[in-house]
Amino acid sequence: MSKILGLGNALVDVLIRLNNDMTLKELALPKGSMQLVDDKRSADILKYTKNFEKTLSSGGSAANTIQGLARLGVDTGYIGAVGSDEYGEYFKRDLENYNINTYLNYRETRTGYATAFISKDSERTFATYLGAALELSAEMLNEKQFSGYDYFHFEGYLVPNYDLVIRALKFAKNRNTFVSIDLSSYNIVEENLDFLKKLIPEYVNMVFANEEEARALTGKEPEEALKEISEMCDIAVVKIGSKGSLIKRGDNIFRTGIIDVNSSDTTGAGDLYASGFIYGLTKSLALNKCGQIGAILSGKVIEVTGARMDDSQWQQAIAMVDKELK
Ligand SMILES: Nc1ncnc2c1ncn2[C@@H]1O[C@H](COP(=O)(O)OP(=O)(O)OP(=O)(O)O)[C@@H](O)[C@H]1O
Ligand SMILES: [Mg+2]
Repeated sequence: MSKILGLGNALVDVLIRLNNDMTLKELALPKGSMQLVDDKRSADILKYTKNFEKTLSSGGSAANTIQGLARLGVDTGYIGAVGSDEYGEYFKRDLENYNINTYLNYRETRTGYATAFISKDSERTFATYLGAALELSAEMLNEKQFSGYDYFHFEGYLVPNYDLVIRALKFAKNRNTFVSIDLSSYNIVEENLDFLKKLIPEYVNMVFANEEEARALTGKEPEEALKEISEMCDIAVVKIGSKGSLIKRGDNIFRTGIIDVNSSDTTGAGDLYASGFIYGLTKSLALNKCGQIGAILSGKVIEVTGARMDDSQWQQAIAMVDKELK
């Protein structure tokens, strides 16, 4: 059976439902925005929201992908950095609940967390404190952690840390591990363009990019970008939101649609698409099937608020995935 290892910013997602938007005003968070906050600002937010009801879940892009795979019954592992605190313990427990092997580095800095304020009209405002995740570094990796894994998936958010990424990819390469990256954000791609253009051909087997990330990497629109990315690696995937996704390996191009969904909080869509796609690869399915499973999981996660489906959502998703396996 295939085993998949993930590497990423370990974050705890903290969902807070607001009765009114006064809180956003008082915390000076522009409604609908996604902001990185420093230590002081995050402490202020924590203090202000001390008595608010919170829903926690482990988060971070690669961790979401790994958790999706674990939910599908795949053997998984995850490397990250957390604080020696309550959220750090929570993160570990949440992953271990799904039998994910954790390789966590404990820091003095607090565990990173992303606070999502959900307004009455469903609009979401994020304040993300990276905390201990920012301290994830090359020395924390050792080759033993990669032992026994057939796939290695990491998130583009780590790309600015060149030493970390190169060390991870060297370990993966030494072990003939299949490597995938989700590019995460177009500004990461823009800011590290030369590095990525060298890194991908040398170490990466599969690239997941959304439309903006694909444009940042190639300067081109999806179809042309797909071609160019596929020349850099084995499998190129360009996600085009509600239009589905484009996939290319060698001369073969596939196009995948979407499933019908009721509501539309797209948090986690890209992460769960990757879970579904990689799951298909572990089952040696054709790439259009891999894309279809990606569409199923991303569609189902869009139906819930946040990046975590509940058990009943997962049951429905798994039933749909099982049909693809037949
Ligand atoms: N409105 C929608 N209805 C159904 N499925 C959707 C919808 N929007 C996106 N998806 C699915 O989610 C996949 C990934 O979404 P998207 O292209 O937005 O990637 P992304 O930008 O990386 O996502 P994220 O914002 O989570 O990082 C799509 O390829 C598609 O399968
Ligand atoms: Mg994405």
